[in-house]
Amino acid sequence: MAHLKLLLVFCLLGITTTIAQAPQGYELWMRYSKVSDGQLLDAYRNATAAIYFQKGSEALAVSQKELTRGLSGLLDRTVNFTDSQDDTHSMLVAKQAALDREVLTALNINENQMGKEGFIIKSIRFKGKDILVVTANDDAGILYGVFRLLRLMQTHQELGGVAIFDTPKIDLRMLNHWDNLDRTVERGYAGFSLWNWQKLPEYIDQRYIDYARANASIGINGTVLTNVNANALVLTPMYLEKVEALANVFRPYGIKVYLTARFSAPIEIGGLKTADPLNSEVQKWWNDKAKEIYSRIPDFGGFLVKANSEGQPGPQNYGRTHVDGANMLATAVQPYNGVVIWRAFVYSELDATDRAKQAYAEFVPMDGKFMDNVLVQSKNGAIDFQPREPFHPMFGAMPNTPLMMEFQITQEYLGFSSHLVYLPKLFEEVLQADTYRKGKGSTVAKVIDGSLHNKKITGMAGVANIGNDLNWNGHPFAQANWYGFGRLAWDPYLSSEAIAEEWLRATYSNDPEFIAPIKAMMLTSREAVVNYMDPLGLHHIFDTGHHYGPGPWVGNLSRPEWNPTYYHKADENGIGFDRTASGSNATAQYETTLTSTFNDLKTCPEEYLLWFHHLPWDYRLKNGSILWDGIALKYQEGVDQVKGMIADWENAKNHISQEQYEEVHMLMEIQLKEAKWWRDATLLYFQTFSKMALPDGVEKPTKTLEYFQSLKFPFAPGIRPRWD
Ligand code: GCU
Repeated sequence: MAHLKLLLVFCLLGITTTIAQAPQGYELWMRYSKVSDGQLLDAYRNATAAIYFQKGSEALAVSQKELTRGLSGLLDRTVNFTDSQDDTHSMLVAKQAALDREVLTALNINENQMGKEGFIIKSIRFKGKDILVVTANDDAGILYGVFRLLRLMQTHQELGGVAIFDTPKIDLRMLNHWDNLDRTVERGYAGFSLWNWQKLPEYIDQRYIDYARANASIGINGTVLTNVNANALVLTPMYLEKVEALANVFRPYGIKVYLTARFSAPIEIGGLKTADPLNSEVQKWWNDKAKEIYSRIPDFGGFLVKANSEGQPGPQNYGRTHVDGANMLATAVQPYNGVVIWRAFVYSELDATDRAKQAYAEFVPMDGKFMDNVLVQSKNGAIDFQPREPFHPMFGAMPNTPLMMEFQITQEYLGFSSHLVYLPKLFEEVLQADTYRKGKGSTVAKVIDGSLHNKKITGMAGVANIGNDLNWNGHPFAQANWYGFGRLAWDPYLSSEAIAEEWLRATYSNDPEFIAPIKAMMLTSREAVVNYMDPLGLHHIFDTGHHYGPGPWVGNLSRPEWNPTYYHKADENGIGFDRTASGSNATAQYETTLTSTFNDLKTCPEEYLLWFHHLPWDYRLKNGSILWDGIALKYQEGVDQVKGMIADWENAKNHISQEQYEEVHMLMEIQLKEAKWWRDATLLYFQTFSKMALPDGVEKPTKTLEYFQSLKFPFAPGIRPRWD
């Protein structure tokens, strides 16, 4: 009996501990906590004392609901709506066409200022008093305006005299889910897929709605539900009715649904003998399929396609080109205003030159041959979402094709969801990179937003880091990467620093003593991961398959370009991939200014040194140290930066709850352990070639190279497990 009692006590204690440590963060950056500054609170309360909100569509209804929810939390009181635009209101939310004529005059705006999906938040003097107006040309603009207004309050901005005019700079702002139909997520580190195919279409999980709210709050307007390594089954009626249910949930939030199209679907689910894009039966099959989809989902976005890449079927199986394949699908969706997003992530085992060159070599000659409703989607760099890559040379090199950016929000090569890495810093670096294609200042951002070559349609995609973990993203700070991606897709010129501040204020606290050091920590975190994984231009030295941890020694895989040894080329003479004219000549794919910058050791930025050059171990770096020492010291710097991040977090303890503190702290301990693992394993391996001692300042490894090489990780997420 005594034992039983004890057990009960322990159980109760256990339960209490579990509750106390329950992960926070389901609300994401939409916590809407009460405004702590008394003066601001009063001002916000006055401004929103009586609100006229236009009615008439589902989108307006969800916007009003969000405003109600936000204001009740932020202002801690019931929200008061008025029925008409008479003199009693202090705030108006209505489309321009529905605004009172006199208000419109006082607003002094024209339609072009808001464009499609844009909005205005403006405080005006009207009939002797200040009123706040949120207006737009369309429903989506109202939705985005409401979310922006709430964010202004969440981040404690003054509303007096406010005049914000904002329109998205990019048309398609999309998430790409790499979700499989069995709910595993390729490269997913936040649990299983959100899409519950078994319970759909009847059961609408609240998460679908909150997912849509979160996306709408940052301007995301499209989602590809399924993995690029596609399963044709999603195109069958059995699944389409479920897709339709999701589309219905997302529609009021301005989000269109897209699907990945498996190129061989006509064979696999259509009973045809071929998927040749020039075969008329195949064309008819896709035309009929598009008709079927659009009859269910009239605003279906279109198809995302990975073809002839990493074993996926494609037009080349039939001796046809990417243009043939893309245009066939584009023809099918064109009558319904759908688009085809054709991925440029291709490389072939038969091409022995340099994987980094292949997408450019294959796609640039096709410039201008795609139909108007095709976008070509390229990863930010020419290899594969590494911690740092030079921008992909395709950006700017296809003036007659809409090029869409593909960033990876999920951290396949950046420590999964256990490492705190603030990715907008990486995104910003790529977007601000100068392609020089139309002279100095021809940034990647200008290619993506269409301004460099006057594009009719533009897009940016992010490979989602979302799963069914309670906090959606696995790591509380990984939420900032989803948030930041959305903000940059809306405006690719925003600074990563401003985004970090916004996110911290909305998510954690408006206290400057918290924000300053934690923002600095976030901004450092990207360079830290580069340093402890891939410094000085090293890349793709990850362990095979799962990409968890270092594997620079791997050199026995069937395809040469799957081996880390292919990328670092370390031997007794030195290390690095020669991509200059004396090597693969990949540098020639850049505009000539950059070709010479990268070719010349005097001008090549050191962060790309070993990306473009193979150099002896005793090569002198700009700071005077030899390459071997420089590499080793960078690894150490990365480890030290993580230690610094932990110290910053420990100092911030009093500003956040115990649970918030502990959750991140535990993850940071993993990050530190793994940063050391990267440093020790990689340096021990490279040391077998350099044969030099570690320089002063670099901690000595406590394990052997053999130990690191023996490690196995059947539990590594993001890929189907293998225990053999
Ligand atoms: C990487 C990733 C794969 C993914 C591929 C792609 O190679 O490891 O899991 O399928 O990119 O982007 O298609």
